[in-house]
Order: sequence, then C-alpha cells, then structure tokens
Amino acid sequence: MTTVMEAPLEGLMSVAEQMKEIFPDDAVIFLRGNLAAGKTTLTKALAKVKGCSDEVTSPTFSIQQIYDNGLYHYDLYQCPNEKFMAMGLLESLEEPGWHLIEWGDEALENLLRMHGFYVAVVEITPKEGKRQYKVTTDA
Ligand SMILES: Nc1ncnc2c1ncn2[C@@H]1O[C@H](COP(=O)(O)OP(=O)(O)O)[C@@H](O)[C@H]1O
Ligand SMILES: [Mg+2]
Repeated sequence: MTTVMEAPLEGLMSVAEQMKEIFPDDAVIFLRGNLAAGKTTLTKALAKVKGCSDEVTSPTFSIQQIYDNGLYHYDLYQCPNEKFMAMGLLESLEEPGWHLIEWGDEALENLLRMHGFYVAVVEITPKEGKRQYKVTTDA
C-alpha cells in the first residue's frame, strides 16, 4: 500500500498522526531522502506521537540510539550491513516498537523482509517550503 502526504513544518504533526494509523506497533521504518530532506525532523514528530519523552537528536555519531516508549533510531550512513549484523543490531530490531532507520539500503530492506520483519519505507522529497512523504507498506 502506498500513501502520499504533503506538509510544511507546521503540518508535520498531522503527518506523523496519519503515519501512526498506518504503521503497526512493531515496525521497521526506513526513512529515505537526501541530506536535509527532513528524516531527523520526521523522527522527532514520530517520537511525539509515540509518546516518547526523550529528546531525539541526530544519531550521526552513533549507529543506534534507544529512546523511551519503544523508539529506536539508527543512522547507517557509511555503516555496511555486515557491521550492522556484527553489532547484533538485527536482534535489536526484534525489540517491540518502532525502529526508524536512516540510510538503510535496499539489501538490508530485503534481508529484513526475508527474516519476517514488517518493513515500511518513507521517501521524503523536498517541495518548495514543504515536504512530500510517500509511505509504502508491506500489507
Ligand atoms: N515538512 C517540512 N517542511 C519544511 N521544512 C522541513 C520539513 N521537514 C524538515 N524540514 C527542514 O529541513 C531541514 C533538514 O531537516 P533534517 O531533518 O535535519 O534532514 P535530514 O535528517 O534528512 O538530513 C531542517 O531545516 C528542517 O527544519
Ligand atoms: Mg538527519
């Protein structure tokens, strides 16, 4: 299923609310988009709708950040999938909650599906002053 949404910064919470209706409670969510597309900003909005009270930061200097209320945030920029596995992060993805992955590639996406994970992809495209969010889900 594919759902396309569009919002400026002020409309981001309603986008996040809509995504909450789409994603199951346990999901691996790939966030795709160029640098400054709005991946981390969306993660903050999703954290709010998930009732997460920790402050979400950009995980650039750590591969994984764990927040309260079942929110996990990964930045796989220059992290090969072999390293991801070697760090035991595949097991970590089994923890209940939302696992938001920035810079995860298609090979990882396919591997997760093969392992039976629910995978959703959000593609973010900048559009004059706002962003388009294209959500694709397995079911
Ligand atoms: N829906 C939106 N509409 C307008 N600007 C946005 C939106 N989402 C994010 N931005 C802006 O885009 C910039 C980059 O956002 P960021 O989340 O850091 O990108 P990324 O994590 O993809 O590199 C920020 O200045 C942010 O305020
Ligand atoms: Mg970022």
